[in-house]
Amino acid sequence: MSKLIKVLMNKDSSCLPIWFMRQAGRYLPEFRKIRSNNKNFIKLCLNAKLSSTITLQPIDKFDLDAAIIFSDILMVPYALNQEVNFEKDKGPILSNFKIDDFLSCDARSFKFKLQPVYDLISITKKKLKKDKSLICFIGAPWTLIIYMFGLKSKDNKLNLDLLERKKKEIKLTLDKLNDYLCLHIDSQMKSGADAVQIFDSWAGMLPEEKINDFCFEPNAKIVNFCKKNNYPVICFPKGINNNYKKFNEIVKPNGIGIDFNVDPEWIRFNLKDVCIQGGMNPRTLLLDDDSIYREAEKYIKTFKDYPYIFNLGHGLLPETNPDKVKKLINFIRENN
Ligand code: CP3
Repeated sequence: MSKLIKVLMNKDSSCLPIWFMRQAGRYLPEFRKIRSNNKNFIKLCLNAKLSSTITLQPIDKFDLDAAIIFSDILMVPYALNQEVNFEKDKGPILSNFKIDDFLSCDARSFKFKLQPVYDLISITKKKLKKDKSLICFIGAPWTLIIYMFGLKSKDNKLNLDLLERKKKEIKLTLDKLNDYLCLHIDSQMKSGADAVQIFDSWAGMLPEEKINDFCFEPNAKIVNFCKKNNYPVICFPKGINNNYKKFNEIVKPNGIGIDFNVDPEWIRFNLKDVCIQGGMNPRTLLLDDDSIYREAEKYIKTFKDYPYIFNLGHGLLPETNPDKVKKLINFIRENN
């Protein structure tokens, strides 16, 4: 059994697996070389061979304990017939959401469009050593709805008026989206992934009175699906502060990713029966070595004798120097 699965499923605190969100891509020169010859990001994600190479780049370079597949949470709206474009320095741009187009989708064509992702997983699984894990992922319904309906302004504020105006459409979309996301998880796991991570990157935007309907409940439905199928599942509801406790009590995933705005001590004493992942601010990696080691030590010490996966509180930043990543990994392995 791989380290990641041992700590996630058996709550075995004797090992400390390491992987990083956004380890495949952006900051790696090896990735940027491939990317410069592949201008269309979606097409690159649909190239199973190249995506598999990118998935394995950080494993070959750093000997990490888990690989996360090179893909994107927005491959799901793409497969549901919404146009998705990635423009340099602008982030993703989606065509206007059309409910009729969405409702006319079916499971067969959804799976057909995403087949290269499933091929990428089976190719990568064969190449990965047995003691490593392969992580697949989805965007949580709320985070996908934000992009699909364009609910976020440029300064990262939630457009509450639009949310109110589109209430009925959003409710309908949330329910159907749940089915497609479960199908995507099922297909990824059956292709050879070992665990699934659910990214709820914009959970922290929700006002308190909406967090149950848009974050807890949709995550709980998907986690129940995973648990029924014995698929190890990690949730990452970013930015929800003290609601991490409630999230854990309601959603009950195998693992919870924490961000850098919550105190790890508080998490350790308030989140029961769950494996914790991450927390360290990715900005720390832009500092000098001693600051990096001090911060890493804080997390290692706090979660000593506790089921913990070393990771960050969000993805590696594009400006991160890969040498710093290597130094951090060496430090963790030497001090554990
Ligand atoms: O973690 C990994 O290395 C695996 C690959 C991965 C990507 N995106 C590749 C990618 C994963 C797990 C994601 C998840 C993702 N995508 C999230 C959730 C995590 C988070 O960061 O909050 C979100 C919100 C997205 C949507 C998305 N995709 C945005 C906002 C952007 C543009 C800005 C950015 O983050 O780079 C992307 C593009 C994207 N996804 C790139 C990569 C490597 C950069 C593409 C490029 O080279 O231009």
